[in-house]
Amino acid sequence: MSARTVKVKPAAKRTTVKGKNGGTGAAKKAGAKTSAKAKLYASLVAQLLSLLKGEHDFIANAANFSALLFNSLPNVNWAGFYFLRGDELVLGPFQGNPACVRIPMGQGVCGVAAKQCETIIVPNVHEFPGHIACDVASNAEIVVPLFDGERLLGVLDLDSTVIGRFDDQDAEGLNELATVFVAHEEGLRV
Ligand code: SME
Repeated sequence: MSARTVKVKPAAKRTTVKGKNGGTGAAKKAGAKTSAKAKLYASLVAQLLSLLKGEHDFIANAANFSALLFNSLPNVNWAGFYFLRGDELVLGPFQGNPACVRIPMGQGVCGVAAKQCETIIVPNVHEFPGHIACDVASNAEIVVPLFDGERLLGVLDLDSTVIGRFDDQDAEGLNELATVFVAHEEGLRV
């Protein structure tokens, strides 16, 4: 079970959000037999849009986004952001145990996802060379890079204690949510 990158069109490179509830690409891809996971992500898109509506404080919105993910997705023990500051990623709003503050580009799962500009699914973090262990309970991880057009903003990072917790549907759903978030925050970033 080695780590793999997932070619999901990066967040915010998709400029339009379509479908029921304002953005259900994940649900739509699953077709007529919409899976429970796709339905959950479609519901999260609607909830995120509701949380963001009328609020344009970037830190507040990022904090609420991380709380939504942490409390709604099963078996997630850390959910939050690292934002690009110079040539390193710096911890942003999150839910979970205290985490390492700075991650150089190209290091750890976050730094590799940021450098490669690709979503990375790691079924077992103990098999990922250079994985940075912030919470010893974490066994699986997914990292989604965030873009404003072509510009890398940072990454969305989720950890789980369950090996193999994240799959392609999570990658698709999280990218959809990240797209909604970045589109809302356009021009408001700190
Ligand atoms: N595991 C990450 C570090 C961040 S924590 O998971 C919150 C990594 O290897 O980049």
